[in-house]
Order: sequence, then C-alpha cells, then structure tokens
Amino acid sequence: MSSAKTVIRGTSKKNIRQAAEILRSGGIIVFPTETVYGLGADATNDEAVKKVFKIKGRPADNPLIAHVATLRQAKSLTKDFPETALKLANRFWPGPLTLVLEKNGIVSNFATCGLQTLAIRVPDNKTALELIGSAKIPVVAPSANLSGKPSPTSVSHVVEDMGGTVDMILDGGDTSYGIESTIVDLTSGAPKILRLGSISKRDIEKVIGTIGVSGTEHGAPKAPGMKYTHYSPDAEVVLIKEPDALEKIQHLYLAYTQNKEVAVMTFSEFEASFANLKTITVSSIKDPAKYMHDLYRTFRQLDKEVGVILVHEVPETEEWAAIADKLAKAADRTV
Ligand code: TXA
Ligand code: MG
Repeated sequence: MSSAKTVIRGTSKKNIRQAAEILRSGGIIVFPTETVYGLGADATNDEAVKKVFKIKGRPADNPLIAHVATLRQAKSLTKDFPETALKLANRFWPGPLTLVLEKNGIVSNFATCGLQTLAIRVPDNKTALELIGSAKIPVVAPSANLSGKPSPTSVSHVVEDMGGTVDMILDGGDTSYGIESTIVDLTSGAPKILRLGSISKRDIEKVIGTIGVSGTEHGAPKAPGMKYTHYSPDAEVVLIKEPDALEKIQHLYLAYTQNKEVAVMTFSEFEASFANLKTITVSSIKDPAKYMHDLYRTFRQLDKEVGVILVHEVPETEEWAAIADKLAKAADRTV
C-alpha cells in the first residue's frame, strides 16, 4: 500500500487542532495512546465509524472502544455509571483500562455493532487527550493495524498497514506499554475481565476484590473480538513450553532450518545457550514490562526476516499473564 496520500505530522498543538477538525468533519486520524496506536473516528458519526471498519478490514460484529478525555465525558455516554466503575475509573483513568457499561444513544450503533453496551476508556497520553478534548467528541479507535496483524507501537508499523488509507497520522513516538488495554465488563453480573492487558488482574483486585477472567471458564462470554485470530505474524509461530524448552528449541531449529529461515525469541539470560542460532532476546526473564513493550515490534521485525519463529514460553506468573495470553493467540502450535 502506498503512503503517498497520508500526511504524517508531529504532535504540536497546531497539528493536533487540525487533526481534531478532520475528526469533526468525518475524517480518520491515527493517534498515539499509551498502549498502542489507535485508528480514530468520530464515535457519533455513522459514516466515519463505517470507514474505520473498512480500512481495518474488521469483521462487522466486532465493536469499537470509545475514547474520551474525562470521566465526565465517559458518564455522558452511559445509562448508568455504577460504583464499581467509579472506583476503577478513579484509580486507573487516564490509563490502560477499558470499562464495558450500559450505553445510552449517543455513540453510533455501528461502533457498538448493535450491542446495548459500550466499551470506554480515557487514554493516558497527552496527544490523545488533547486531540479528544479539542475535537469535543468521543473518538472510537481500534488498534491501527490491519485486522489480524500485531497492533502498532510506532508510526512505522502504522504506515506498513495504513499508509495511504487514513487522512492523517500523528507521530507521538513509541507507545509506552506496547500491548492493549485491559477490558473489564461491568454489565453482566459480577465484574469480569474480558481481555488481559497492561493492567494486571491483581491490580484490579486491589480496587474491587476478586474478579474472574473470561475464557478460563467453559462457555464464558468474551469480548466479541476475542474469537478472531489476533496479533498473528505471517510466519509460523511455535510456542515452546517447559520442561526441556532449551533442548526442544535446538531440535526444532535444526529440523525447520532445512527449508526455512528460523529465529528464536527468548530472554537475555538464555542468549548464550543459543549462540549458534538466530536469536532475539526480547527482555530479561525478570522484566515483563520490557517484553510487553517490545513484543509486537519483535513480531513485526521477525516476520520480515524469517518463516518460523520459535517462542520460548514466558513464566507462568501473574505479571506475565497478559503476555502469555498474546503468545498463545499468536501461536500456530505449541510444543
Ligand atoms: O489499548 C487499547 O484498547 C487500544 C487503543 C487504541 O486504545 N484499542 C484496542 O481496540 O485495542 P481494538 O478495537 O483493537 O480492541 C477492542 C476490543 C475488541 O476485542 C472488542 O471486541 C472489545 O474491545 N469490545 C469493544 N466493545 C465491546 C463491548 N461493548 N463489549 C465487549 N467487548 C467489547
Ligand atoms: Mg486490535
């Protein structure tokens, strides 16, 4: 796709104001958030919302998150803002937490795919907040990748997927977290985590007590988007589990390398074990935040270089849970 038509701008006040005008007139703006880049449109404008689905190649039954600048604006889009929502919003907004609440009629039905609920968050990014504040409208924004690709954490990723198809990209540099927001549903009985993200289950439990994660129980409802393949590189991704992961990686590398380029994704502690292989060390095994920050970038990079990615599994602890979930979704098979 050509990037010829897409304007890429820095995040000066003037550029943000111009981007806000484009949003208000039904255009599409890619903007940075603290999690990943978003593909933004006026949430109240049916035609603008439909464009977002078209540009992303997004299935029509996968609803969008409305981004707002303040708690007050969030309340203005909902029927009811229960006590639990208030506690979570007060603790985590602005920040990478999305709340699913009963909606009123303000946001386009195309954004919510006809559901009675709306996903909302206040992003913790200066440019995003200025953009939404200046446009004075709620902004729907899925991650600014083509459906099925890893979410973009820098403008170069956005251009790979969206160059030429959006009206403007605001370049705010690398996003700080690198994976998407955590989604909590507050509309169906007990609160439930629909998608693990950069805020952990434990962080949420500190505020509202024990919470379940959807997908861990049989038949549990999930975010509609969770049924689609996500975050998947074109390369074959093989997730290598303990025990004996090091031996398995050596063995599979030899087998695959007969007819494909292969790379190993592991931790800096194991670099020496794979000295003879093409290896990417995403982070130390003690640094989930760094791993999170670089995960999608690493997938995108390796996808250009190899046909097979052997991913060393991450620790089975709470702080790695969101990453483990992303890896499991990206994996074509597990060994
Ligand atoms: O960090 C993020 O959340 C990023 C940045 C750009 O804000 N956005 C993002 O949006 O990840 P997207 O569209 O890629 O993922 C939104 C997820 C989907 O899985 C969708 O099914 C779910 O949110 N979702 C949206 N509305 C929902 C609703 N009313 N009920 C349940 N799930 C919903
Ligand atoms: Mg996405």
